[in-house]
Amino acid sequence: MSTEMDQTRITIFDTTLRDGEQSPGASMNLNEKLHIAELLEAMGVDIIEAGFPIASEGDFEAVNEIAKVIKGSVVCGLARSGSMDIERAAEAIKPAERARIHTFISTSELHMKHKLQMDPEDVYQAVIDSVTLARNFTDDVEWSCEDGSRTEMDFMCRCVEAAIAAGATTINIPDTVGYALPNEFAGIITELKERVPNIDKAVLSVHCHNDLGLAVANSLAAVNAGARQVECTINGLGERAGNAAMEEIIMALRTRQDSMPFATNVKTEDIIKASRLVSTVTGFTVQPNKAIVGANAFAHEAGIHQDGVLKNALTYEIMTPESVGLSESKLVLGKHSGRHAFREKLKELGYDLGDNAVQDAFKRFKDLADLKKEVFDEDILALVDDTVVRDNDRIRLVSLEILCGTRHQPPKAGLELEIDGEVKSTDAVGDGPVDAAFNAVQALFAHEARLQLYQVHAVTEGTDAQAEVTVRLEEGGKTVNGQGADTDTMVASVRAYINALNKLLVKREKTAPSALSA
Ligand code: KIV
Ligand code: ZN
Repeated sequence: MSTEMDQTRITIFDTTLRDGEQSPGASMNLNEKLHIAELLEAMGVDIIEAGFPIASEGDFEAVNEIAKVIKGSVVCGLARSGSMDIERAAEAIKPAERARIHTFISTSELHMKHKLQMDPEDVYQAVIDSVTLARNFTDDVEWSCEDGSRTEMDFMCRCVEAAIAAGATTINIPDTVGYALPNEFAGIITELKERVPNIDKAVLSVHCHNDLGLAVANSLAAVNAGARQVECTINGLGERAGNAAMEEIIMALRTRQDSMPFATNVKTEDIIKASRLVSTVTGFTVQPNKAIVGANAFAHEAGIHQDGVLKNALTYEIMTPESVGLSESKLVLGKHSGRHAFREKLKELGYDLGDNAVQDAFKRFKDLADLKKEVFDEDILALVDDTVVRDNDRIRLVSLEILCGTRHQPPKAGLELEIDGEVKSTDAVGDGPVDAAFNAVQALFAHEARLQLYQVHAVTEGTDAQAEVTVRLEEGGKTVNGQGADTDTMVASVRAYINALNKLLVKREKTAPSALSA
């Protein structure tokens, strides 16, 4: 409760696995979600919103499995106000040591009239009923007024007071459509604190979307006005333009202690690792000039800047690269390095993998070390992200051979895939080597998906660098991104393509999003 809480401590509520996953194309499988949840826990995130259990069997299973393994963070499941949603969320989070139900309903006139087609009084009653029901399952209940920033203040105050009286311990105010300006959003928090008589019995939280690029600014304005929980995602992943980026929130709080003397529990040194993992798993590459985690965020190009930084880093650097977990690219291991050294390196990079996963990653590392003169931390990270999070895949690459160039017309691909445990092979031709390889995938695993994006980037410098390929596929209005890494660009391309296909298979199980707009 806010009265007992340290008022300088900001609770970090991560919703990468729920709101982040609602981002078109960002679906994740169970294994990938477990990896992300474990990393969020290790980082010190207070609450992990693991999913929306009623949305699909897959969502339920993910929340349930995360609830079984996560001990250091509260595990939260989302539910609309109906009893079926709340009971399903309660069932999913049951194994958690600390479990939260997050229930919500729209309170703006626009949403009540057109989306819910409910009278305000019925919505008010649903607030009381949903929170009361959720409290039967756990003492930790969060209530959100969807489209909060466009809700009429008298009605919001009534609903918030009723939710707290019914037992809500956290009250979350979403800027669902990313419409608010910082001064307006701070005003909402101030008004709630002034007008809701029992407001001191709950923690005030904010959940901002980034449609106008203001999600982080709005979240920080709310903190200054008295909010003590911030909802956010790694890399700002989320519906449309995304949610407030966790890395930006925690680094702003750390860097501007002079003006915002608040602390979080999150280890900022894990930021880059988390950013990379989420980017690899979702296939959403981070723009180079993205704050905190972009490739250029700590790079100084202009001579005058470089000169200043060499004389004193503070001239142009307001944070150190080390504070977010960036270190100089280091030569790490060579082709003679053994399993023990490799396992130690993984630990240093923050991966605590099981024996089978280490075995797989070690094999890939040996192959890489044979091909590449120098193996850097970035290579190991790309390789582990590419190998380890994929053990549930139905389609796997066994081998690939490409014939192309001026002497081979048309380009030809020989491909072997393992599909549901059975190895199949084929040859295919195409307009270019990528086209030939993707035609071979199509021949072995027939599908209707259309290729929307094919993108390559080098993990490190040099012509022997690993290529990291992103492939976006669309099928029946659903999009997925796949990624693959390898020193051979064609192998990376096929890995990325089949990664996207594996995700599409997961996505097919999901309920239509319109039925579940959150
Ligand atoms: O943006 C939103 O309103 C939400 C709620 C479910 C909190 O995601
Ligand atoms: Zn949201």
